[in-house]
Amino acid sequence: MAMSNTPGPTTGVWAELTAHATRLAAVPVRELFERDPKRFERFSREQAGLLLDFSRQRWDEIVLAKLLQLADAVGLRARIDAMWRGEHINTTEDRAVLHVALRQPPGAAIGGADIEKTVMTERTRMLSFAQGVRSGTIRSSTQAPFRLVVNIGIGGSDLGPAMAVQALRAYTSGAPRCEFVSNIDGCHLAEVLESADPQTTLFIVSSKTFTTLETRTNANSARAWLSAKLGEKAVPLHFAAVSVNTPAMDKFGVHPQYRFQMWDWVGGRYSVWSSIGVSLAIAIGAQNFVDFLGGGHEMDEHFRTTPWQENLPALLGLAAVWNINFMNLPTLAVLPYDDSLRRFSAYLQQLEMESNGKSVMLDGKPVQCQTSAVIWGEPGNNAQHSFFQLLHQGSARAALDFLLPVRSSCGNQAQQNLAIASCFAQAEALANGQFAEVVRADLERQNLPPAQLEALIPHKVDPGSRPSTIVMFRQTDPATLGRLIALYEHAVLTQSVVWGIDAFDQWGVELGKKLCEQLAPAVEDPDGGHPAPAAVMKLLATVEKWRR
Ligand code: F6P
Repeated sequence: MAMSNTPGPTTGVWAELTAHATRLAAVPVRELFERDPKRFERFSREQAGLLLDFSRQRWDEIVLAKLLQLADAVGLRARIDAMWRGEHINTTEDRAVLHVALRQPPGAAIGGADIEKTVMTERTRMLSFAQGVRSGTIRSSTQAPFRLVVNIGIGGSDLGPAMAVQALRAYTSGAPRCEFVSNIDGCHLAEVLESADPQTTLFIVSSKTFTTLETRTNANSARAWLSAKLGEKAVPLHFAAVSVNTPAMDKFGVHPQYRFQMWDWVGGRYSVWSSIGVSLAIAIGAQNFVDFLGGGHEMDEHFRTTPWQENLPALLGLAAVWNINFMNLPTLAVLPYDDSLRRFSAYLQQLEMESNGKSVMLDGKPVQCQTSAVIWGEPGNNAQHSFFQLLHQGSARAALDFLLPVRSSCGNQAQQNLAIASCFAQAEALANGQFAEVVRADLERQNLPPAQLEALIPHKVDPGSRPSTIVMFRQTDPATLGRLIALYEHAVLTQSVVWGIDAFDQWGVELGKKLCEQLAPAVEDPDGGHPAPAAVMKLLATVEKWRR
């Protein structure tokens, strides 16, 4: 538990930033543009295949310079170096944090020579298995090629590959269909199995621990289904697994050669780069998976070596700090203008909120400021017709990230052009708003009676100054998706160092898990004398009545 740093609020520059926030709160974003015609040049950065346009943030050059000072004052550089050296920066679990080692190219020795060797060996095994399944050389118990791959996992063992397979759908032709089942109630599994042919179905149990209730339960149900259809002997040839828990894989009957390793230095929400990504590798093929890793590594190198001024993850993280801690914007809406990225905000929810949803610092003392934003979002155009009204005129305010590929993910550039226009239109409208004079002039042109005109004006005013970042890229391809995920991972690290918290543990989640294991027998058999809190007992009475 030796890791420490200087939390942002204890630095001198924090107070200066507070003063600048007060100053800028009085300046609409529109005015910032009017004052500085070079605002785009000043606040946009093109690096590592991504263009980040921060010009619609409610900040100026003074604030940006102070935020860069803040990164130094909290020791961001030292923490990055410690992470890359494999120091145990996840202090409460006493673990190294080396997802960057998973995407290294041969010879990079990230995490040390031994870790590099282990990573390469396991990557080769996993990719050869994935290619075998994809091409049909690895076959089922009836010698049939697999047509359906069902990943059974939850949290980081589901969200990463599920999001990425969807995002890279354009690269999946010729591959078996991949489904991702996570929920405990069994309904999604039932839906997937309804049309599944057991002879051509491969299950992948993805669980670092192999103890997670949801995954255990769904895996057991899938196993029961398979053995009822094809017999117990068929089970090993239809079940692969990714886990650190060998005894559990033995007990379950996973084929000895279809098991892939995980390591305690890979957090669940950082694990898509490991063999947890095997379903992604099956879907997009080995070379595309390597390109995905390559994109992540490119962003790693950029983050590790680039001065803050040009450092995309650091800037994205510092923009978040500015919005959360100084602009009082506790939520971030993530809005992809590419339907293939429709699971991206769900993915980011775990990455950001499980990492930085903390209230104590590394030394166990209470944090001195707000931590993680609440992350939410939907594909942009859909969101425009649902919750954008609140973004424009609601009293709750949010910061926004627009994700924008220039090229269509499905070859329909004409329609992607409209998505691009929509994204720019919303970013502009939300930044600049529409003031009363403009509304008045508009209404006057419609020759409305004066009383009606006056009554309408306040309803049509859009205050603007909703800050946003546009993250633009050429195309949602494997390398770019790798860069995007790594961008957000390192932005999360940046924020955690400013707040002085451990971004790599998740103790809060454990409490609910423990209680659920205790309560499950009481729900199953309310009269069985199993312990449950009094308030739950009352609910159980109704459960019992309505279940009959
Ligand atoms: O939700 C808590 C958590 O531990 C996540 O961090 C993790 O991604 C998920 O559960 C699944 O864990 P496992 O891979 O061990 O089943």
